[in-house]
Amino acid sequence: MELQFKLKAYFKTSADPAPAKDAIAAHIEEANNSLLTKGAPEGQGAKVTEWKLGEDRIELVLESGRYVRVHDAIFRLKKQLSDALGKKFRIGIRGVEVESFTILVPAEHELKALKVPYVKSMQNLEGGILLELEVGEAEMKNRVPDRILTLLEEKIEAAQYGAKAEHWNLLWQSESKEHPFKEDPTQAMLKEGWLKRGASRGQWIHGPQSTKVFRTFEKIVFDELLQPLGYREMIFPKLVTWEVWMKSGHAKGIYPEIYYVCPPKTRDPEYWEEVADHYKVTHEVPTKLIKEKIGEPIGGMAYAQCPPFWMYVTGETLPNEDVPIKVFDRSGTSHRYESGGIHGIERVDEFHRIELVWIGTKEQVVKCAEELHERYMHVFNDILDIEWRKARVTPWFMAQEGLLGLAEGDVIGTTDYEARLPYRGEDGDWLEFQNVSINGDKYPKGFNVKLQSGEELWSGCSGVGLERWAATFLAQKGLNPENWPEDFRKRIGELPKGIRFL
Ligand code: SER
Ligand code: ZN
Repeated sequence: MELQFKLKAYFKTSADPAPAKDAIAAHIEEANNSLLTKGAPEGQGAKVTEWKLGEDRIELVLESGRYVRVHDAIFRLKKQLSDALGKKFRIGIRGVEVESFTILVPAEHELKALKVPYVKSMQNLEGGILLELEVGEAEMKNRVPDRILTLLEEKIEAAQYGAKAEHWNLLWQSESKEHPFKEDPTQAMLKEGWLKRGASRGQWIHGPQSTKVFRTFEKIVFDELLQPLGYREMIFPKLVTWEVWMKSGHAKGIYPEIYYVCPPKTRDPEYWEEVADHYKVTHEVPTKLIKEKIGEPIGGMAYAQCPPFWMYVTGETLPNEDVPIKVFDRSGTSHRYESGGIHGIERVDEFHRIELVWIGTKEQVVKCAEELHERYMHVFNDILDIEWRKARVTPWFMAQEGLLGLAEGDVIGTTDYEARLPYRGEDGDWLEFQNVSINGDKYPKGFNVKLQSGEELWSGCSGVGLERWAATFLAQKGLNPENWPEDFRKRIGELPKGIRFL
């Protein structure tokens, strides 16, 4: 089965087109042989397969494959016929009315019906899927059929991947190490009074001890990477609007994982009095009533950390001599509605991360990533002394858009850093504790950032997950500072006393 578009439509005419019949026939004949094939490989253009005249219309059936699509073809034809009939016959073409628009898409699996605007019906056939669209002239001009096809093809591809895991390719692995400590570090920390569960799902309150561990990690990253490599600190917003996620691509996929943010419909205390009074009398917060009084979500809590940075540079042109630009943010939390169950600090709904972002030419961006890999290697081997590995994985920006596979080109993509968790046993899953990504031109393009020279801009980012570093380090080294590597002990100094309870 091959991809096929079929459009039944008519041109509304300002007068009876009968006198122009021969001219119309000639134009359609000509169009089938040249106008509607331009830009398509030989024999793969669009075709008018049927046509007839009505009193006030020219009725048409167009068919096409992937190349010159029926909705492009009809506008090419409209322009040509308008010119021809207007001049010679004083017949105007008023508009395009669509009677039916179908797309037949080859597919090996059945799919459940798409719930999107403009799709009237969807039918699983032997070897393909038949979509019937409800589109008019405006939607065809706005390329709605193309977007629906892309959406469906993505779903077909995902169904073909099936349960296949994300892409994963080992790049480097440290020697295996002895790990005398075998406990789950979160349980150990709870026992030692280093932290407690927060009031919210997947949230922890870190006591003075684990906080000091986090701060020491930050200091290591600062001293060993950020400072020597010239990264400048910035503060990125932590409430992210749809505008940002539309430009970053997240609007294509992260809905199940967002913590949504809704503003009050008004700031008027009188409007809210009822809610406050309800609480005062019942000692229950009337969440249903609150739901009525808040607006639609304007976005959500920070998720990937770097997207909101890009509003700083959106629409701007960077001076040649100022790239690569290297910045980082450690100003707050990221939030993800994680899959259920009680997890330790390695899988949380609220987490802390240092996010590095760099922008420059392709060569510069690739070089920045290499510098980072080198420095991280030093940190994990010489300072933290952990057992870890690096793997090339599905790029985070694709994974977060719900896509599988690898990015195009061999340098674009994400490298995950993973560590062994001894308490999970020899064959247990390793933990991703950070990543380094070369994101290609995705972000400069999405946020429309240019370089003075006109050369293409690329970017990269690296997320250092502090909870993940802690889960890794403490799982391998335990909680007793005496068993920590010398260099790390020097850097952390004395652990503060925890808060005691009776
Ligand atoms: N922005 C990247 C991510 O979300 C790196 O932190 O994984
Ligand atoms: Zn990032």
